[in-house]
Amino acid sequence: MKRHILITGGAGFIGSHVVRHFVRKYADYKVVNLDLLTYAGNLANLCDVENCPNYCFVRGDIGDLELVRTIFREHSIDGVIHLAAESHVDRSIRDPFLFARTNIIGTLTLLQAAREAWEGLPPGERRFHHVSTDEVYGALQPGEAAFCETTRYDPHSPYSASKAGSDHFVRAYHDTYGLPVVLTNCSNNYGPYQFPEKLIPLCIRNICLNKPLPIYGKGENVRDWLHVEDHAEAIDEVFHRGRDGESYNIGGINEWKNIDVVKLLIRITDEELGRAPGSSEKLITYVTDRAGHDLRYAINAEKFRKELSWSPKHSFETGLRSTVRWYLTHEQWVKNVTSGAYERYYAEMYADK
Ligand code: NAD
Ligand code: DAU
Repeated sequence: MKRHILITGGAGFIGSHVVRHFVRKYADYKVVNLDLLTYAGNLANLCDVENCPNYCFVRGDIGDLELVRTIFREHSIDGVIHLAAESHVDRSIRDPFLFARTNIIGTLTLLQAAREAWEGLPPGERRFHHVSTDEVYGALQPGEAAFCETTRYDPHSPYSASKAGSDHFVRAYHDTYGLPVVLTNCSNNYGPYQFPEKLIPLCIRNICLNKPLPIYGKGENVRDWLHVEDHAEAIDEVFHRGRDGESYNIGGINEWKNIDVVKLLIRITDEELGRAPGSSEKLITYVTDRAGHDLRYAINAEKFRKELSWSPKHSFETGLRSTVRWYLTHEQWVKNVTSGAYERYYAEMYADK
């Protein structure tokens, strides 16, 4: 095998697309997927590649230093693409300690194992790619210039604070120990296999079930949406060709107010379900705003586009339609991941809304 890559969080939403992308495109790479299989991790997301000879799965915690050391040793790991994380802002408001443990201590553990395994070796093809988020930059006002790589970190939620902390550790390991690292900070992803607690899959599911579509506050918050397959390709590009020690912002240049995204989803999903146009608009329900809700995210991806070769393949309208179709044809997947525990979590969460 030409390379031995550890992908963490490969059973999650973005991770499963990244694993699929690497396993299929690079038959001469060994891909080791380390995932704890929390509520967000699901091996069914990878059933189409699970038997590929260049893929293997290890169930475990990124915070378990002995386990991670063993994986580095036994699989001669020379590259890491680190996605494992607690990723949902609303959950971070309820359990900030879990986010600090997974996102900060878990990342630190991986960095330490990589440092020990690679110490004294020429950087050559060794690389630790940390997958981060645009949320570390905080919130923009309408009209304010989009986030670039030099924008000051200003996280507001326990989730974004924990991701910011992990980013700082990645840079510290580069600057202090010379660990070869690269970082990407991406905007909101959408597409197949996203857990239906995030806005887009939650709304598709609720439109199908004729359940309320909870819009936080006035629905004026803006996000910059990118199809997950475009993100996976961007990660491939930066992992292989990004400059050592650099951060790259990745985004779709595709800003939408939440209420407009939900209305577009209603239009597409009603069409796909053969319902009268707009018939699901009555499901829109304004609920209490998220605490510390960032008003707007927008990504300036100039550096990435200038230095490297990438452009998104999915337009928002076609990407959303294919996503809606995926959820409509994968009802069983949705049923499997939305267990009784999930329903109880939501019942509690919306009890006050
Ligand atoms: P996700 O919640 O769908 O998946 C996270 C995965 O990590 C799951 O498979 C889970 O089982 C695994 N995991 C959690 N804790 C673990 C632990 N302690 N040890 C091993 N595995 C563990 O997340 P996602 O939306 O796919 O996000 C992946 C990464 O990309 C995260 O680091 C996130 O911060 C980042 N990101 C996400 C988005 C987005 O829009 N979803 C955008 C930018 C960046
Ligand atoms: O920007 C990148 C980030 O995008 C990632 O780092 C996070 O891991 C990912 O979860 C996502 O964070 P958001 O908080 O932006 O995503 P979410 O889907 O939870 O919410 C999108 C917007 O929709 C946000 O403004 C909150 C709002 N929202 C969300 C939910 C779940 C609602 O109005 N109602 C809802 O029920």
